[in-house]
Amino acid sequence: METPDLLEKVTNLAKRRGFIFPSAEIYGGFRSTYDYGPLGANMLRNIRQAWWQSMVQTRTDIVGIDAAILGPPAVWAASGHLATFTDPLVDCKKCKERWREDKIDGVCPNCGSTEFTEPRDFNLMFKTQAGPVEGEGATAYLRPETAQGMFTNFANVLATSRKKPPFGIAQIGKAFRNEITPQNFVFRTREFELMEMEYFVPPADADEWYRYWIQYRLDWYIDLGIPADQLRLHEHEAKDLSHYSRGTTDVEFAYPWGFDELEGIANRGDYDLTQHAKASGVSLDYFDQSTNERYTPYVIEPAVGATRLLIAFLLSAYHEDEIEGEIRTVLRLDWRLAPYQVAVLPLSKKPELEGVSREVLDILQPHFMCDYDVTQSIGRRYRRQDEVGTPFCITVDFDTLEDRAVTVRDRDTTEQVRVKIGDLLASLRERTNQH
Ligand code: GAP
Repeated sequence: METPDLLEKVTNLAKRRGFIFPSAEIYGGFRSTYDYGPLGANMLRNIRQAWWQSMVQTRTDIVGIDAAILGPPAVWAASGHLATFTDPLVDCKKCKERWREDKIDGVCPNCGSTEFTEPRDFNLMFKTQAGPVEGEGATAYLRPETAQGMFTNFANVLATSRKKPPFGIAQIGKAFRNEITPQNFVFRTREFELMEMEYFVPPADADEWYRYWIQYRLDWYIDLGIPADQLRLHEHEAKDLSHYSRGTTDVEFAYPWGFDELEGIANRGDYDLTQHAKASGVSLDYFDQSTNERYTPYVIEPAVGATRLLIAFLLSAYHEDEIEGEIRTVLRLDWRLAPYQVAVLPLSKKPELEGVSREVLDILQPHFMCDYDVTQSIGRRYRRQDEVGTPFCITVDFDTLEDRAVTVRDRDTTEQVRVKIGDLLASLRERTNQH
């Protein structure tokens, strides 16, 4: 498939089937802002869950938090974001469009002109006011990264969780950046969801942990079905590092426009804890009683946008194949990510069939996200489920009333097998490797 075509197809599918809608669409939309519809909301939850499971639930060295989105200027002054979280902004002298200088290779994407104003530093943080009285004391910022919540809570978490380095604090939540040029659907938006983990380590071990987390995160994508040849690692040169970073490696994904950033893994050194300790006057050192040593931990940080991931998973899963002489669209999503894992489809709207379908739903719904669809021919209903990546369709037909068995159809092979209703849950658990 031509790759620009792929982005268009996935974008169309996402809108047509209720993954992603332009925000405030009835008012003409709002500045590259998007809402997640019924399927997108399910899939985002699954992405968060898969990340949380890998980063928190299955580990004893990482805990989660959920910090505030609004923050005082003091946090962002100490973190360096007020001074340096900027992009170089230029105006095209001919058509007056504004661009991020480092993204346009000296040519205006709108009119082709090569004449621009001198670049100015444009701060990406959204500034607002907390409370009804305006003025300096009321200034607040929407967080541009969730990470600072982990640093400002470092001492609280240390005191309450009984963890000691190496240990991590993870968080999933909204972040806001006033991007100069949002682009490529939900790849770069002004409001997005971040999944970040700050891993605090003794300074001498930082490089080892940095390598560990790069590999751990790469493996996560492969485990969730992105083919290894669609992923690569890109280590930043020193001149491209963020103000806090001693080393950053991106996991890049093969988007239709070429390899580009999916996730960043950074060695933030002791930058953040040192800055916050200095600015707040509160010590953020760690005292190791076993060695009698006091030190400021270094931080290794894997950070990825859940919303950016959603589009990457959709692009990677999108396939067109031929079934019985017909082209079908199928999302080969890992079952853990699919918006619905199961669709229950009574062959007709007869009340007896709907009654048994209800029984089947009662068995499966506590364990799987299930769709229920009674309209159109069964063939068309299979195609609709394939198109949104539902791994299993369960058809309830008239034989079901006699033999108490249903047909289970596999999305990828289209193979159909007959399974007793009583064995259905065990059968689906086995097929999804949940023993
Ligand atoms: N705390 C580190 C940090 O925020 P970053 O590289 O600026 O690092 C981390 O962002 C990740 O967040 C990126 O790799 C990307 O997945 C996602 N991201 C960043 N800006 C985004 C945007 N405007 N829209 C969607 N996702 C974004």
